[in-house]
Parts: sequence; structure tokens; C-alpha cells
Amino acid sequence: MKLSRRVTETAPYLFHLIDEKRKAAQERGIDVISLAIGDPDMPTPDFVIDLMNEEMRDPRNHQYPSYKGESDFCELVAHWFKKRFGVNLDAQNEIMATIGSKDAVSHLPFVFIDPGDTALVTDPGYPAYEAAIGFAGGTPIRIPLLEERGFLPDLSSIPEDIADNAKFIFINYPNNPTAAVAEESFFEDLVAYAKKHDLVILADNAYSEVYFEPEDRPISIMQIPGAKDLSIEIHSFSKTFNMTGWRIGFVVSSKALIHSFLTLKSNFDSGVFMAIQRAAARALGHPNAPLFNEQRTQLFKKRRDIIAAALNDLGFRFGLPRASYYFWVRIPEMYSSSVVFCADLLEKQGLVVTPGVGYGPSGEAFFRISMTSPNEKIEKGMERLKNFMKGL
Ligand code: MLT
Repeated sequence: MKLSRRVTETAPYLFHLIDEKRKAAQERGIDVISLAIGDPDMPTPDFVIDLMNEEMRDPRNHQYPSYKGESDFCELVAHWFKKRFGVNLDAQNEIMATIGSKDAVSHLPFVFIDPGDTALVTDPGYPAYEAAIGFAGGTPIRIPLLEERGFLPDLSSIPEDIADNAKFIFINYPNNPTAAVAEESFFEDLVAYAKKHDLVILADNAYSEVYFEPEDRPISIMQIPGAKDLSIEIHSFSKTFNMTGWRIGFVVSSKALIHSFLTLKSNFDSGVFMAIQRAAARALGHPNAPLFNEQRTQLFKKRRDIIAAALNDLGFRFGLPRASYYFWVRIPEMYSSSVVFCADLLEKQGLVVTPGVGYGPSGEAFFRISMTSPNEKIEKGMERLKNFMKGL
């Protein structure tokens, strides 16, 4: 078979591999608990389902959608963006619907990369960033995210010529997998840096609504003066409304950058089912949305307490997550590989967590726990972690 190097030289997606390992362990008779993927266990809220039921019954939603996203979708998103971030967007030119945020993440590199080009990615980082740059024929250049810098990239450590040659930089705050948050001053410095080096910023803001305290409420890079002309911000409904399976997100940027992305996307796919677009966009301004958000925060705080207490008891090193679903935890000192640690934990206790190296070499000393499982399952998972550590 004459397969492309794109396929033969790329590993399957991290969570596909983890799923395979989980299934294999179950086939060997191991009773498995997975705290790996960040996929909310709670269903999509009823008010969104009700909106979807209405939209499904509307025959105008049954045909091909517009490539850019329906104009009422864009209007409702613009309205939310103004309310949430205080940023004015031209709904018809500066917003585009996407098939979840992974669609944007994996296709945006094709807008900028020609074979042989380079782009900057944070390490650790969401694995689709590097894969997409590679698929487009480029080379990702990793910028380490270090604990002592709050898992923010040290832009001054990037050699000038590397920054000048790179096409764009991927960033993601609130961050997956480290759960780090970035202050406004970070985004200001980043925008100035991108201007200096003629870089585009691809800002993944998929976790903008998942935070614990009001003072950590994430901002949008679009709040920084001058950012829109050189940034594309990626948003998702997956985490905001427990809609991972629905596949709906959007990007915001300048008219010119949206137009370039539309050229690419309109050739790749045929847009998002209109009923999903309309249900999702109406959910943003729905009167039940604030209460839903508050209840979700309280639930995750409880889960955060359960996990933090167990990790502290066991002497693990970690920072308390301020946003996102994740704990980013140092593996025990006797291990030098996160993959071996996670494999042992699965084999001996049937507990699946994510090896940090799956997000890049700088993640090798870490593993990730996701809070997206029912409390009892998390408690059981922490019991298993305790048993595992006792047995070391
Ligand atoms: C994660 O668990 O890191 C992601 O949310 C899953 C994904 O988007 O692939």
C-alpha cells in the first residue's frame, strides 16, 4: 500500500492509544477506572437539549449550512463576546463556526505553513498542535513550559532568528495539560512579541469558562489592543456546556484572517449542522446558563478537593488547578518515565491517567488526572492510587 509519510510517520492520537491500552487491560480481566480524557461525565444540560429539539424540527436547518457559519450564529456569538469579554466583533466578518475546536486547531496550520516552514508550540501542549503542523509539511519548534515560570513560555529564551522565521505560535490558557492560567500582562507581552517577529498567534481558549474563582476568570487575547490583526482565538462549546460529542466551536479574528481560513475550510468540509449551530449559540445567552455554570464550578471544586487531599496525603508534588479540568502532577521520584509509571498504575491498580510525555518531552516528569468523572469514581481512583503507592 502506498501510504503517505504523513500517516506512516505520525503516531495515532494520544487518547486513541490510551483507549486501546484501557481496552486491552479490560480484556485481560482488569477492572479499569479511567481518569484520563477531559470529557465531562455530566450530560449536556436540558436547556440546550430543548433548544436542539426545537431546532431539529425546523426544516430550514436540514440543508447544507453556510461555510462560514449561519449569520444568526455569528450575531449571537458576537453578542456573547461583547458581554463576556467586552470586545466588539463584526459578526459577519470576524467570526466563523468550526466543527469543535479541534477542527480549528488541526486546520489552521494549513493556512500558514508551506512545506519546510516552522511554527512555535508550547511543550507540553495539546498533541493536535504538533500533528497539524507536521501534516501541513512544517516543523514544530517546542518552547518548554516550566513549573518555575508558572508554565508560561519564556519568550526571551527563543533565539531571534527562530522567532523571525516561524509562521505562528500556538498558545493555550487556561492550559491543557498544566491547568496554568495567564494574566493580561502575559498576553500584552505576547502581542508585542508577535508584532516584532511578524508571528500570528493561534490562541486556544477552549477552557475559557472552566475556572474556580472569579479572580481567575480567563480573558480573551482580543482584549489586548492590536491583537485582532495578528491573532486567531479558538473557542469551543465542548467544555462550556458539556457538548464534546456535538462538535461545535468558533474562531474569532480579523476579516482578512477569517477570509483566509474560510478559503481553506470551504474546500475541506461543509460546515456544522445548522440545528447544532443555532442551539449552541442560543445557549450562550440562555437565562439558565449562569446557574449551570455556577453548579458546574461547585461540582468541580468538590472534585478538586477530593483529588488534592489524596495527592497531598501521598506526598505528590502538584499545583492546585485554577482553571481547566486537570491536575498536572509530578510522577514519583523512583520513576524516570511517565509512560512506565502510567502503565504500572494501570497494570497493578486498573487506574488510567495520562502520561505527561504524551503532551511533549517537557511533560516526561508528570502525569495528568482529569476531574471529568463522577465523585465516587474519583474517590475510588484515589483509593487505587493510594494502594499503588503503598505497594512501591
Ligand atoms: C483532553 O483530554 O486533553 C482533551 O480534552 C481531549 C481531546 O480534545 O482530545
